Amino acid sequence: MIKIEPKRKSIKTEIRVNGDKSISHRVAIFSAMSKGISEIENFSSARDCYSTIKCLSALGIEIKIEKTIKIKGAGIRGFKEPIDILDAENSGTTIRLLSGLLAGQPFFSVLTGDNSLRRRPMDRIIVPLSLMGAEFWARENNKFPPIAIKGRYPLKPIDYKLPIASAQVKSALIIAGLLAEGESKITEPLPSRDHTERLLPAFGVRLIKSENTVIVYGNQELEGQRVYVPGDFSSASFFITAGLIVPDSEILIKDVGLNPGRIGLLNVIKRMGGEIEVYHKEDILNEPVGDVLVKSSQLKGTVVSKEEIPILIDEVPLIAVLGAYAEGETVVKGAEELRVKESDRIRAIVTEFKKLGVNIEEFPDGFIVSGPSIPNGGIVESYNDHRIAMALAIAGLSARDSIYINNEECVSISFPDFWDIMSKL
Ligand code: S3P
Repeated sequence: MIKIEPKRKSIKTEIRVNGDKSISHRVAIFSAMSKGISEIENFSSARDCYSTIKCLSALGIEIKIEKTIKIKGAGIRGFKEPIDILDAENSGTTIRLLSGLLAGQPFFSVLTGDNSLRRRPMDRIIVPLSLMGAEFWARENNKFPPIAIKGRYPLKPIDYKLPIASAQVKSALIIAGLLAEGESKITEPLPSRDHTERLLPAFGVRLIKSENTVIVYGNQELEGQRVYVPGDFSSASFFITAGLIVPDSEILIKDVGLNPGRIGLLNVIKRMGGEIEVYHKEDILNEPVGDVLVKSSQLKGTVVSKEEIPILIDEVPLIAVLGAYAEGETVVKGAEELRVKESDRIRAIVTEFKKLGVNIEEFPDGFIVSGPSIPNGGIVESYNDHRIAMALAIAGLSARDSIYINNEECVSISFPDFWDIMSKL
């Protein structure tokens, strides 16, 4: 259990966050699929990314973890049949992206994960990857891990419309598309983060991307690269929220990724009246990178609609935090995807906020917070979900009394330095 004491003084500081988790997973997988050696700087320290690294090692890829990560690529077809079950632990990105890769490898493999991952839906990748010709077996009628895969090369190309916007599903299909014969077309109902589409051309891949559609050509070689991973916007979001709700504060977050598919929270903050400035400094790996300056602000409620959810999917718990400190109603709609994340994040945030006396109500697809409704002190649960633990901790910075969070170690899934930065604040 960890104790969060409310900050009675302002926070004036500059912060750097860990390398981006989504980009790190992808860079590791694309490096493994490349010809030649890749060297990755500022690879995410998130435990999830090491789940990907361990699975790639078990598939015969040589990886050296030093100050940088060096990966000796095997080419798109150079992976070896693993002699044991691959464990993606808590990582949805690992299991889904690797399913796309393993669908196109002509051998047998099994992917599993921890208690949380084994409850997350995998039919969303199993259905389209089966259409491409790979064979799958999974629990409860091909829905939940463990997933057994009998891959084949080449796969059949696919023209597929995703029923829900998901960067993980889209990326799994793009990776499988590289292992297919001919042209695959993947369409999303709404745009989600497009790191895969931006990164693959940096590894020499030809693809065509329009707003909601990606066309990828099979049987292309990837070339190893030297890459630098920008800071993780989702990690930065916790301290952006802290800067807004702790009185008289000013926080500068340096060198953070500003992919338009990730920064939906900034639009919400602006609508809420938050003082926030973004300085775009450069592009790294086709990704915009810059600094974000945030100042404490008088916030007002807003409505977050279904169309916005994919570009702020991981930041929804923080919208509840902002809502508690804002004047009026903050409403989130169309966010039912949150129920199948590392925990049911709608249920988790509503239940724990209610324990702290916050005026919040649950809907099947979101919640409404009537603010201001400053949290009281109390004991809350993380549900072993990193983003719930961190959102509750940030809420505690301006609460009326101390908040105690159970099972706080889970933050290392995405942000191992979180508690260190918190104690320095
Ligand atoms: C991710 C995509 C999102 C996000 C997750 C990381 C990715 O999941 O919630 O934290 O790296 O592609 P979905 O694609 O399932 O929405």
